[in-house]
Amino acid sequence: MKKLKVGIIGCGRISRFHGMPAADQENAELLACCDLVIERAEQMAELFGCEGVYQDYEQMIQEEALDLVHICLPHYLHAPVAIRAMQLGCHVLTEKPMAISYEQGVDMVKAAKKHKRKLGVIFQNRYNAGSKLVKNCLDSGQLGEVLAAKCFVTWCRTPEYYQSSDWKGTWDKEGGGAIIDQAIHTIDLMCWLLGYDIAQVDCSLANRDHQGIIEVEDCADGLIVFNNGVRASFWCMNYYSHDAAVEIDLVCENGSAKISAEEGRVLFHDGRELRAKPNPQESFDYGGGPSYWGASHLKQIDEFYAALAEDREPEINGELILDTAHKLIMSLYDAGRNNKRVIY
Ligand SMILES: NC(=O)c1ccc[n+]([C@@H]2O[C@H](COP(=O)([O-])OP(=O)(O)OC[C@H]3O[C@@H](n4cnc5c(N)ncnc54)[C@H](O)[C@@H]3O)[C@@H](O)[C@H]2O)c1
Repeated sequence: MKKLKVGIIGCGRISRFHGMPAADQENAELLACCDLVIERAEQMAELFGCEGVYQDYEQMIQEEALDLVHICLPHYLHAPVAIRAMQLGCHVLTEKPMAISYEQGVDMVKAAKKHKRKLGVIFQNRYNAGSKLVKNCLDSGQLGEVLAAKCFVTWCRTPEYYQSSDWKGTWDKEGGGAIIDQAIHTIDLMCWLLGYDIAQVDCSLANRDHQGIIEVEDCADGLIVFNNGVRASFWCMNYYSHDAAVEIDLVCENGSAKISAEEGRVLFHDGRELRAKPNPQESFDYGGGPSYWGASHLKQIDEFYAALAEDREPEINGELILDTAHKLIMSLYDAGRNNKRVIY
């Protein structure tokens, strides 16, 4: 079988979580890296063992005749670069968030359909051991109906973190703050566990500890009401002392479930208990990156390449994310910025 020709666009902090697994794929060859800062592209190309180094992603796609690009760019570039890459014939696996407006997400899905390309969006934590345990217990009916849910993300983003980035902390480039960048995974997981059949959302945004440093929220809380009446609440902020384990709690008819970082625990009313932890044999060192990014990029990337090999939609595809995580995150900002309840 012909090997897929692959390139990485954006060689910042997350890029090694894409480049290393891409370089290891049997049915693909990682040919090139692209970054506006050429030294970053050079450094990653050396790390991933590929020769192509570019500053212009269109040139990279055309000269290397690429079949697939991984997008590891600032949020505001996900949609335009994904759409252009698909126009140029590439499949696309983009980092979260899908985009910074709902309409951009719609355009990405339209482009994937028009150009018959596969579009994936990284939400790697859906593959965590704890997430899968809780999801299985819910979907199999063992836990019964969910009665209520809550989640917390209390992380630390210092002034230096924002000052060292030319795009974080801004509405036009990051598209938001604590929700779209940090809490997006945990809010998505909670709603994915509950089935994403949302009726309405309320949200409050605040900048409590980064005034004069960022335009966007460093704190948010909200209520997500599902069509079956279940209420799911969230609270997130990024002025804590450290990156504490994210937490999700579900109260269910037959017991309760808790996710803490990548671990899951289910306690049934009859006394049974199930636990899931990351398998240490599945963990690996990409040579950088905080532990809370987890070990599941590899799982989602493997699944995406399998989907390409089998010519089927990837599990976490653009259309699915548009209707679930992307619609939700954009609705939370609509509610929070316009001080209104958003009805689905
Ligand atoms: N899934 C996760 O857990 C996770 C974790 C961290 C980051 N991310 C996501 O990964 C993406 C990148 O984040 P990061 O922390 O690596 O950012 P970063 O700022 O470290 O890297 C972005 C890189 O893109 C380059 N770039 C900017 N414009 C470009 C252009 N037009 N062409 C080529 N290169 C360009 C920059 O020079 C920079 O090197 C974001 O979407 C972020 O939310 C996801």
